[in-house]
Amino acid sequence: MYVTLREVLAEATRLNMAIGSFNTHNIEMLPAIIRAAANQKTPVIIQTSEGTASYIGQRNLVAVCRSMAEEYGVDVVLHLDHAKDFAEIRKAVDAGFSSVMFDGSALPFKENILGTKRVVAYARGGGASVEGELGTVGGTEDGICISKQQVCYTDPDQASEFIELTGIDALAVAIGTNHGQYRSKTSINFDQLERIRDAVHGFPLVIHGGTGVRDEDVRRVIDLGIRKFNVGTDLLVHWNRASLAAYEANKENTSNREDVLPALDAVAAVVEHRIELFKNISSAQSGESHAAE
Ligand code: 13P
Repeated sequence: MYVTLREVLAEATRLNMAIGSFNTHNIEMLPAIIRAAANQKTPVIIQTSEGTASYIGQRNLVAVCRSMAEEYGVDVVLHLDHAKDFAEIRKAVDAGFSSVMFDGSALPFKENILGTKRVVAYARGGGASVEGELGTVGGTEDGICISKQQVCYTDPDQASEFIELTGIDALAVAIGTNHGQYRSKTSINFDQLERIRDAVHGFPLVIHGGTGVRDEDVRRVIDLGIRKFNVGTDLLVHWNRASLAAYEANKENTSNREDVLPALDAVAAVVEHRIELFKNISSAQSGESHAAE
């Protein structure tokens, strides 16, 4: 079914797992992500930037997510990632996105609250969920951290106040991750995440910059309350590597489908690997389920 963020995160909380939220950059990548999630029998969140939403067309994105959710019998959320512009948020909600993020993290606390509340009020009217953000998630360029000096972790007390005053459905937290970190790995501040988790009493938390998170850290952050796990760059890097090789190998009059198909396989493999981790099944549990089969 085509569902809201609130619905899938409630299920993730019940099952102590995270839902993968994957950035698509074009319309071709989208079916590969949904099919991979259907294979893994988990809900999935498709997210796009404001730029990608305009490039593909908001209504086209909604139509594909709705029809594939129905065809594959998988819960799909369509989410607008890191939106700062209210007009873009309104366009997405009006088109039928089932979730939007208002990123007011660069604003003073009070302005972030006011901006987020305005988005929550609009999104509710359109039946969409809202993710807010507090603190600074870093950024990287070619694997080099460009924002170490400005890192500002999410304050646990502010997080609790922010959730209460805005009415959001999920909160993105700054705990040391960086967007775009694919050559190196992130040092997560687990103590900070634990303090936030305790302050917000199990409210669904979101990790950004998932590409840089080590596989072995995934279980720990989920156990500390991460319910939405964002992954973008990993898909792009694998797509680009596979399609570069295909374009190089194929003739100029080959159907360009042949250049895209290897990229789709590469993306699907990344998505399936991540989702397997996000299910947070311990080795003991997976042994039990194999034994029962
Ligand atoms: P990465 O591109 O680092 O995986 O981050 C994705 C993300 O957090 C999108 O908001």
